[in-house]
Amino acid sequence: MIKIGCKQLEIPIIQGGMGVGVSLSNLAGHVMLEGGMGVISAAHPGYNYPDFESSSRTCNLQALKDHAKKAREISQGKGLLGVNIMVASKDYEHYVRTCVEAGYDAIISGAGLPLSLPEYVGDSDILLAPIVSSAKAIQLVLRRWDSHYQRTCDFVVIEGYKAGGHLGFKLKDLQNHTCEELEDILPAVLKEVSIYEDKYHKEIPVFVAGGIYTGKDIKRFMRLGAAGVQMGTRFIATEECDAHPIFKEMLVKAKQKDIVIVKSPTGFPGRAVLNDYMKKVMDSPNQKVSHCFGCLKPCNPADTPYCISHALIEAVQGNEKQGLFFTGENGAKLDRIMTVHELIQELMEETV
Ligand SMILES: Cc1cc2nc3c(=O)[nH]c(=O)nc-3n(C[C@H](O)[C@H](O)[C@H](O)COP(=O)(O)O)c2cc1C
Repeated sequence: MIKIGCKQLEIPIIQGGMGVGVSLSNLAGHVMLEGGMGVISAAHPGYNYPDFESSSRTCNLQALKDHAKKAREISQGKGLLGVNIMVASKDYEHYVRTCVEAGYDAIISGAGLPLSLPEYVGDSDILLAPIVSSAKAIQLVLRRWDSHYQRTCDFVVIEGYKAGGHLGFKLKDLQNHTCEELEDILPAVLKEVSIYEDKYHKEIPVFVAGGIYTGKDIKRFMRLGAAGVQMGTRFIATEECDAHPIFKEMLVKAKQKDIVIVKSPTGFPGRAVLNDYMKKVMDSPNQKVSHCFGCLKPCNPADTPYCISHALIEAVQGNEKQGLFFTGENGAKLDRIMTVHELIQELMEETV
């Protein structure tokens, strides 16, 4: 049992938030049912609502409430419910306020530094966790929260370079294999965090993410001082994952050579399957944007290489040729689809 602020987590596993639509209530609810933290992604959760094209923001805010309710029903009161909100989202503040109202247990926030996050949660007891990829980043966030809001975070997620989705590392380092290892980032982050554990008289559990594949990996990082792990890619190959079965099969079929580093309109590099669409974007990085969802702060439809929302929506709906399929480095290891129950049982047995 891991104590996080005023709440308890039964097993040391957070299922990472995966947009667009890859982690919604079905996946999150089933992870919660096993005693883990299920996380809904706030990246266009309303993508399949009827009015999404014309009112994406309204649909997304409604979907955050609807999926929270559904996940709680599936979980039968077990586990914790988190939401992953990207700092790069234009509607960041609205998403945060809606999730506080909807009764989520935790907000996990990356793709930028969540420097102002405490401002939007008021005196709610929702747990707050920054996602960082270096000790420098957690130092900046916690210093700012301490000086501006006289508070600290409740837990931390460190995301290493093997993760899926957007990556907090320089493209050059990813290509040259010169990123700092998670094993080296962890002790440095623990040191920073301990300053605020002392100051605020509380424990701040640190979870590691990116390339965690087996229970042995979980055990190794817990021995190094992590409280647990956040895992994304392995949860895609589950029956309960909210993505189309073709998305899951894409990863099960993918070989290591098919998994590449791509540029995203967020400004961050990402890791994805090299399919026809990604080849086209890499060859001519100026795909016409026919409809702008106005979703990302750093994205300008006039000069964006492609519309990432459109490409991710195509992927979650199973369009093999037009979609952008994010995956972690370990995507190529996936060889079958299992249930969340089987996966968590297997992971927990391997940690013993
Ligand atoms: C398909 C996919 C989508 C993701 N989307 C997001 C996202 O919207 N926001 C975010 O912070 N992280 C996102 N991630 C990162 C995961 O939450 C998780 O931290 C990461 O995948 C962990 O590494 P692993 O996949 O090797 O387990 C995504 C990952 C994948 C594979």
